[in-house]
Amino acid sequence: AGVFRRPPVLEPYETGFDDGDRNRPYAKYALTQKLGQAQFLPGLTTTLAGYNGIFPAPTIRALQGTRTEVRIRNDFPALGLLHPMAFHTVTHLHGSASLPQYDGYANDTTPPGYVKNYHYPNWQTGRTLWYHDHKHHVTAENVYSGLAGFYALSDEFERDQLPQGEFDVPLMISDALFNADGSFGYNDNDHDGLWGDIIMVNGVPWPTMKVKPRIYRFRVLVASITRSYRPTLSTGEPVYIVGTDGGMTPKVQAVQSWRQGTAERYEILIDFRKYKVGQKIQLRNLSNKNNEDFANTDKIMQFEVVRNSGSGKGGISSIPKTLDEGGSPNAAHGGLHTMSLTPEMAVAKRELRVERENGEWTINGVTWADVESSGFTKLFGNPQPFDVEQWTITNGSGGWFHPVHIHLVDAKIIARNTNGGKPFAWEGGPKDVFYAGENESVTFLTQFDTGAQAGGRYMVHCHNLVHEDHDMMVQFSVGDPRN
Ligand code: C2O
Ligand code: CU
Repeated sequence: AGVFRRPPVLEPYETGFDDGDRNRPYAKYALTQKLGQAQFLPGLTTTLAGYNGIFPAPTIRALQGTRTEVRIRNDFPALGLLHPMAFHTVTHLHGSASLPQYDGYANDTTPPGYVKNYHYPNWQTGRTLWYHDHKHHVTAENVYSGLAGFYALSDEFERDQLPQGEFDVPLMISDALFNADGSFGYNDNDHDGLWGDIIMVNGVPWPTMKVKPRIYRFRVLVASITRSYRPTLSTGEPVYIVGTDGGMTPKVQAVQSWRQGTAERYEILIDFRKYKVGQKIQLRNLSNKNNEDFANTDKIMQFEVVRNSGSGKGGISSIPKTLDEGGSPNAAHGGLHTMSLTPEMAVAKRELRVERENGEWTINGVTWADVESSGFTKLFGNPQPFDVEQWTITNGSGGWFHPVHIHLVDAKIIARNTNGGKPFAWEGGPKDVFYAGENESVTFLTQFDTGAQAGGRYMVHCHNLVHEDHDMMVQFSVGDPRN
């Protein structure tokens, strides 16, 4: 139970305009991957592998319409902490429609001593993204060791309608096991997953955050390797869902709890105005099926209400009922807003079966090893830019849940086999991770919007990173797979 903190914000080292054109602004950032030390548990020092040597990594705050470049230097030692190849790294900006060469393709790695410049277009709608390592076979270990941070993309619609500044708070939830000497414990239970007994928020176990009696916006990200959560407030009051993975929800939805798997983002409002100074409110965790629970994994963090002060700048004065997410920022090129997609627009329907076969995790019977042995030519689909497709993910395997992530795109969930055929109440906005619980299927519409850039090959995988590393990953290509 430590003191809540926000990850530091990274400042650009250079801003300017491409070719001196005022309509083409850019911001450049630099990060160094290196070992660092932290005190996650009192009196114990933990060696971590982080961007700038810290966990969570610094937050990057980007603006729609301003492209960013992030220069990432790999200053790790030659050998990984657990796996010798761990420190050959590749960074994925999760939620960004990046070109394939900047998208964190799992085999496109940078060895220690080298630098890579990643370019991010930022034409998409405002949203909470995150960046993390994606090196094939060791993604779980690398993210677990600390390679994860927030990237918040802001647009004018989001700025006009949702809390900003002090009332806009990132919450990165993760779990870990620690050895007696303070080092990270690691046990992937036969490639099933890694469940820790310590829950951390922004790298602090079960923190307490002081809040004013105002409305706060929390950008909740689950950065756990495996664990999924079902957060709920101890007061029985609802939280208000205002955003999902790919941006704002058209309708604000009050929920008592919601289910959130690894890599999913939910933006929520909590209204602390009705509470008294000194009151403590816990964010608890109700259990989801197929997780491993420990004595204190039913708790996430706590809020303590303090006296109102300050101008309230950046705050909002009531919970909105609807949000205007502003249509497609790529409309001129044929991009549609994700929430305006309809089944009639779909030019293809695809099924993804997620399974376990002979100890390997597979998607439609295929593993990433099959993709590798094809010389990276094996594709699961080949939509053309701006095609709309309808996909269904089905988890027929007993005893597991799989949060499946599709790179490049946002999707609108239109059906589930459970919940009366409908998406869950909290799924009312654009998504890029689809939680397929045991015996669940989920159907969605997506447009392969490249932002009028070249397409190419993108990964689809389970975001239980232990499953991903044990080969639950395939790829599709938008347009020409040689890009
Ligand atoms: Cu968050 Cu392919 O990853
Ligand atoms: Cu999985």
